[in-house]
Amino acid sequence: MSITKAIFPVAGLGTRFLPATKAQPKEMLTVVDKPLIQYAVEEAYDAGIREMIFVTGRHKRAIEDHFDTAFELEYELEQAGKADLLKLVHSIKPSDMECVFVRQPKSLGLGHAVLCGERLVRGEPFAVLLADDLMVGEPSVLKQMVEQYKDWRASILAVQEVPAEQTRRYGIVAGTAVNERLLDVARIVEKPAPDVAPSRLGVAGRYILTPGVFDEIRAQPRGVGGEIQLTDGIAGLLRREKVFAFQYEGKRYDCGSKEGFLEANVELALKHPQVGAWFRQYLKDLSLQ
Ligand code: G1P
Repeated sequence: MSITKAIFPVAGLGTRFLPATKAQPKEMLTVVDKPLIQYAVEEAYDAGIREMIFVTGRHKRAIEDHFDTAFELEYELEQAGKADLLKLVHSIKPSDMECVFVRQPKSLGLGHAVLCGERLVRGEPFAVLLADDLMVGEPSVLKQMVEQYKDWRASILAVQEVPAEQTRRYGIVAGTAVNERLLDVARIVEKPAPDVAPSRLGVAGRYILTPGVFDEIRAQPRGVGGEIQLTDGIAGLLRREKVFAFQYEGKRYDCGSKEGFLEANVELALKHPQVGAWFRQYLKDLSLQ
């Protein structure tokens, strides 16, 4: 069975980005000229996924609007003969892509958000993408993971090595190496202190999960921060099924932090076909001042 569905948990309040996120979802913050959520959706589409499941909350209307028809805008662009811009607007939601929205009524944690998508996943393996982790890879990180899934038919977690002092920010995995990029996971712990962390391999915001994870999330008590944690559900799953951790090729920008968000803006602006050359020169001139 191939991966055709992805869950995007987008109900979080984004308090780390106040005041920018007071009246606007954090997933709509733009890196250069695209909102974070669009990068994640494009990554899923590129990996062959066509059904996008957004787990939203209050104040998230902008995300629904972004992936909907913008009648007035499209009409005006058409009248003005601005074919390029019209094409750009249409490309946000290709005609073979379906977007579904489900509400997470309370902020009970990432595991709970994923549970909200359970019925829409209809018993199939699925992907989870956290939009504030902006992933740049060639092929895209989720596509690399789908390739791994085809070989192993089991849950795959994206991991990267993190500095020892940062283990408290991540789900941390440990296990047996299958090859130089893949680990057969024996343990996963949510946000451990450095001295008890089982390794320095931290989970990035990309998962391929088998549907067995839903019962496991439900079976776990509240975890770190009093929240229903996805990591705890995965810890339950790996007692019953194989779970692999995959060291992807590519770069992750933690756009949930101001530093990561700025890095993403600078590095993606430098690569941008329209403004890249100008921006490089601008940074050079600035550093000479
Ligand atoms: C979540 C997960 C964590 C994972 C991280 C990746 O944490 O709970 O296991 O490593 O995303 O970004 P959050 O960043 O939402 O606190």
